Amino acid sequence: MSTRLDGLHVSKEIRKQIAQEVSEITMQGNRAPSLTVVLVGNDPASETYVNSKMKQASAVGMTSKTIRLEEDTSEDDVLRHIHALNDDADVDGILVQLPLPKHINEDIIVDAISPSKDVDGLHPLNVGLLEINRPQFISCTPKGIMRLLDWYHIDVTGKRALVIGRSRLVGKPVATLLTHANATVTLAHSRTQNLDTLIQESDIVVVAIGQPNFIKASQVQSHQVLVDVGIHRIDGMIVGDVDPEAYKKVAYATPVPKGVGPMTIASLLENTLQAYRAQHAQK
Ligand code: GUN
Repeated sequence: MSTRLDGLHVSKEIRKQIAQEVSEITMQGNRAPSLTVVLVGNDPASETYVNSKMKQASAVGMTSKTIRLEEDTSEDDVLRHIHALNDDADVDGILVQLPLPKHINEDIIVDAISPSKDVDGLHPLNVGLLEINRPQFISCTPKGIMRLLDWYHIDVTGKRALVIGRSRLVGKPVATLLTHANATVTLAHSRTQNLDTLIQESDIVVVAIGQPNFIKASQVQSHQVLVDVGIHRIDGMIVGDVDPEAYKKVAYATPVPKGVGPMTIASLLENTLQAYRAQHAQK
């Protein structure tokens, strides 16, 4: 029997707790924590993600705002917006939705976000602090995955964890978090050889390769924990990086949708509340 790691349920519990904390903040006469998302261009998937982020930030009582910029906005103009948000004391969290249009250098934009408002955990300072296990802001999807494993009392200590995908948003930071949690981690990617053997030898498999139904039921085993980070729209259906038949075969699996996705947004709200508290503690 496979246990479903119900990210939607867990994220609701987390959001309830955040809403309670935000309500206490505002009842004391303080302004609500605030999140601003910068969205450049009109990638439909990004539109959907940003709308969910805005809706859920508002639902927990936060102030949320999207700065929408045209596809052909120059890098300098995006930077001007970031600098203004950095200087705005009423903005706690800043997130620039990725990917950016090709003419904009993602590194330059991410580097410009104030590390103390970088609720996405992507700024090099935050990446470095995570690496040396002194995290400030932890990137949202990896943080959400660890929280989900923890919620279901899945102890990763001494377990063999395989992360498939080495992106800055998911693969690398989740491999780091699993290492800090005492798992024995292998980071695989598109050039990895003998992936089948690596999967067979693993207890936990995190799949963030960005290819629909990449992992099949024939590749997994009954004792394993499967975390599917993929999200793809195919013929009106939402599918992950793992064939749903594989979920049924393993001990624990995150569904797509309603698995990792809602946990990402819950982590973003947690990070925004953390940014608010840090900013107010300084005063
Ligand atoms: N695009 C897809 N997921 C994310 C995310 O977590 N953060 C940002 N900034 N962009 C994304």
